[in-house]
Amino acid sequence: MWLFLIIWTLVALFSIKIFNKLSTGKCYADTVMSGKVVVVTGASGGIGFETALELARRGAKLIIACRSHEKGEKAVRRIIRRANNKRVRFIHLDLTSLSSVRKFVHELETSEAKLDVLINNAGAICTTREKTEDGILKDLQINYLGPFLLTVLLIPMLKKAAPSRVVVVSSSWHKFGTTEDLNSEKYGYIQSYANSKLCNVIFSKELARRLEGTGVDVNSLNPGQVNTSLYRSSTVLEKIRSLLLYAFFKTPAEGAQTSVYLAVSCECDQISGKYFEDCQEVRASYKADDEESAAKLWAVSQELVRLTPDEIGKCFGEVS
Ligand SMILES: NC(=O)c1ccc[n+]([C@@H]2O[C@H](COP(=O)([O-])OP(=O)(O)OC[C@H]3O[C@@H](n4cnc5c(N)ncnc54)[C@H](OP(=O)(O)O)[C@@H]3O)[C@@H](O)[C@H]2O)c1
Repeated sequence: MWLFLIIWTLVALFSIKIFNKLSTGKCYADTVMSGKVVVVTGASGGIGFETALELARRGAKLIIACRSHEKGEKAVRRIIRRANNKRVRFIHLDLTSLSSVRKFVHELETSEAKLDVLINNAGAICTTREKTEDGILKDLQINYLGPFLLTVLLIPMLKKAAPSRVVVVSSSWHKFGTTEDLNSEKYGYIQSYANSKLCNVIFSKELARRLEGTGVDVNSLNPGQVNTSLYRSSTVLEKIRSLLLYAFFKTPAEGAQTSVYLAVSCECDQISGKYFEDCQEVRASYKADDEESAAKLWAVSQELVRLTPDEIGKCFGEVS
């Protein structure tokens, strides 16, 4: 009886794994990225590492933006070896510090003339309600406000490379998010993560509107449920994750497919302000379509990251 049950469980899990593998979207584009400058944030592991590896395999000049020097340099060595591409390097970026974001942009500007693709992949779930040195909730800053500042400051370099692309890694959890009273500690960490992921989608749509006609396209995506260290930062989620079997999760390489697709595929030429899953455009939450709340979020974000009139003028050619 027990043997029968074990065999059936194994067969069921194996079937689920096969079904998941077959239904996972894959990037079939054979685009070569030689001559293209690409930045991937949070490429020390998980989805970001696999995204960076795939872009290096396609010949891109790759910049890995990570908070840990040790992990960043290790990822560079692994990618150079596996992709057989020596144009891979590390620049330090800690999204919990707005001055680190500004320093990263300065370093990139002094070493590269343009930027073809920016992949905002780095993200975290923060179980403790800490604020950063900038007075912002840590998860909100890592997942949204740090990438907001980074992207806005890199617009001049993206414009120089046009047609160029910005890819923002969000999550299906954005559907449970809200943008009300964003920087408040009243939210639990799961709600706070959902809020930051909703901000990702709203921001990419709003930025797409602001960059219309410049040749810089901006899209966001949900990578799906991926077996990475993201869940290890949360005790509750870790328990759930270990209960859910490996069969239900994508591998990091599978989770990277939609990011790679949005970065390289010619099917995405001139597509901007959209939301993707499994290499296909899908509808994001209705909350991401409200242009009034998008404008409000933009104003709040601009204030929280203390964008100066000079910086705004440099990025959008206007002082607002
Ligand atoms: N895994 C999933 O099922 C899933 C589902 C939906 C969305 N996502 C999204 O996918 C993205 C990648 O996540 P993942 O699953 O690959 O998780 P991961 O393996 O934990 O990778 C997250 C990356 O972000 C980096 N990071 C964290 N804090 C940072 C900071 N302060 N400054 C700069 N980089 C920082 C991490 O660096 P360290 O190595 O130094 O920690 C790591 O490289 C995230 O945006 C996440 O929200 C994941």
